[in-house]
Amino acid sequence: MPKKRFPLAKVYGLLEPGPVLLLTTAKGAQSNAMVLSWHTMLEFEPPLVGCVVSSRNHSYALLRATKECVLNIPSLEIARQVVGCGNSTGARLDKFGKFGLTRRAATRVSAPLIDECFASLECRVVDTGMVRKYSFFVLEVVAAWVDAQVRNPRTLHHRGYGRFMVAGETVKLPSRMR
Ligand SMILES: Cc1cc2nc3c(=O)[nH]c(=O)nc-3n(C[C@H](O)[C@H](O)[C@H](O)COP(=O)(O)O)c2cc1C
Repeated sequence: MPKKRFPLAKVYGLLEPGPVLLLTTAKGAQSNAMVLSWHTMLEFEPPLVGCVVSSRNHSYALLRATKECVLNIPSLEIARQVVGCGNSTGARLDKFGKFGLTRRAATRVSAPLIDECFASLECRVVDTGMVRKYSFFVLEVVAAWVDAQVRNPRTLHHRGYGRFMVAGETVKLPSRMR
């Protein structure tokens, strides 16, 4: 079937790879959560994750100051709260109270885990070399937590402008890739 030309401004919606995340940060008594979909794996072990956190976000200042965060992975069950966190700023709001999300203390970083997410990755910023130019932070995952009861999480995958693809089905094919 012939393909139609596609607007360059919408290309990200084709490529956005992994699940939508809730990135939490904390400084002193203040903690915050923002939505993050521009992220990528960079290394297996220790796990390195690259992510773009815009300087327009309150989370950017907290991440730069503390060099710590948690990547929490939500699923369809809390989709509305997730979108709420991505459409409001923690500069003027306690998003945990507003969206009914529960903080739990992490073990290695000051940012909180979110109970309602089925997985949480405690991270430290290990490279800021591309922050100035691309707002791109390289994170090392230093501790990881998953809810063992959740077998096929219906993760959210951003397609742009409020549209999300929902994962769930797993297919197994012969492959040598780790
Ligand atoms: C589905 C979705 C995906 C988003 N992905 C990103 C992202 O990858 N990087 C980013 O900087 N902002 C992203 N945002 C925007 C921030 O989550 C949003 O600006 C948020 O209000 C920032 O909160 P804060 O000011 O409390 O840090 C996304 C928003 C939504 C709704």
